Amino acid sequence: MTRLALVGLGFMGQTHFRLHQASPDVEFVTVCDKLPARVAPQTVSLAGNIGGDPTPLDMSALQRFTSLDDLLVSAEVDCVDICTPTYLHAEQAIRCLEAGKHVICEKPMALNVEEGQRMIDAARAAGKFLFIGQCIRFWPAYEVLARLVADGSLGRIISAKFTRLSATPGWSENGWLLDSCLSGGALLDLHIHDVDFIASLWGLPPAVSTTASNRFSTGDPVDHVFTEYLYDDFACVAEGGWAMPGGFPFQMAFQVLGEKGVLDFSTQQDPALVFYPFDGDKYAPEVEPGVGYAREMEYFFSCIASNQSPTRVTPEDALRSVRLCLAERESAAIGLAVDL
Ligand SMILES: NC(=O)c1ccc[n+]([C@@H]2O[C@H](COP(=O)([O-])OP(=O)(O)OC[C@H]3O[C@@H](n4cnc5c(N)ncnc54)[C@H](O)[C@@H]3O)[C@@H](O)[C@H]2O)c1
Repeated sequence: MTRLALVGLGFMGQTHFRLHQASPDVEFVTVCDKLPARVAPQTVSLAGNIGGDPTPLDMSALQRFTSLDDLLVSAEVDCVDICTPTYLHAEQAIRCLEAGKHVICEKPMALNVEEGQRMIDAARAAGKFLFIGQCIRFWPAYEVLARLVADGSLGRIISAKFTRLSATPGWSENGWLLDSCLSGGALLDLHIHDVDFIASLWGLPPAVSTTASNRFSTGDPVDHVFTEYLYDDFACVAEGGWAMPGGFPFQMAFQVLGEKGVLDFSTQQDPALVFYPFDGDKYAPEVEPGVGYAREMEYFFSCIASNQSPTRVTPEDALRSVRLCLAERESAAIGLAVDL
């Protein structure tokens, strides 16, 4: 069974922690955070934009480190799960790969294409798997959409619209998420979920045209983004932002219109996923239970167990998504479409 280390016990690391503790697929061996309080035997729970479990985390049975270097020297693990701030992903993933570990790393892969490429090169050189947690690929309602697009059930696609909106994240350690030099802002951190999903369905678009604004960031506009993906044969847009007021509920949604009808998903409606056919009555398609975080890990750990390279979210896919986001940022900054 895969012996696992988890690095970075902030909001997302704690989410992964609870999943690893309950997972039958891994032997959860060790945790690491630079803040000693985050790897104390009993650690207080943090909350993020998608809520959180208030139960304290019990780390008493695990090896606990405050330095990744110490962990890599002392802990016997096969795989490291990296949930640290984005500006550390490349450096830490490369260190783990060079130490002979498989790596699962939170999205976004890296802050720029060069860093992401170095991660890919390190994985190849080490002969280890690198998997980026683009969890929306594994989110059940989005999996239904992917299936209906792939098998032609929606017919020819006419339009597609994706939305992801959140209150401003207030939980990050030292506020790093709000510094767009460290996180890439909402454009790279939040909106990348839809960017990655769109590219997974329809490939890299020939060009993107983005308009964006800032509420608190300085520099390039990254707080609230509208992008048009200039595919040749259908209209495709996405909106993403985390500049909403504190009371605004986290929201993700899509409407994809094909010749056979529209598939409509929103976290603000019940049932969340509805198909409205042109021919017949609306119905709620069957959606598998669970959340993308758990399902992506189950997939990755099964790849490690069977020694099969992951084919869902390759590192090259994740790098393509970073590249697309950066093209969107450039488009917003110069006020023109950017070719890809
Ligand atoms: N998939 C998703 O939906 C999703 C949601 C939120 C965050 N994320 C991603 O998860 C990552 C972490 O985000 P977060 O919201 O948990 O941030 P966070 O600030 O809450 O947590 C980061 C943690 O890393 C620790 N850390 C910092 N430097 C370290 C180091 N050198 N060694 C060890 N630990 C260190 C911090 O002390 C902190 O506990 C980011 O890349 C973010 O984009 C993904």
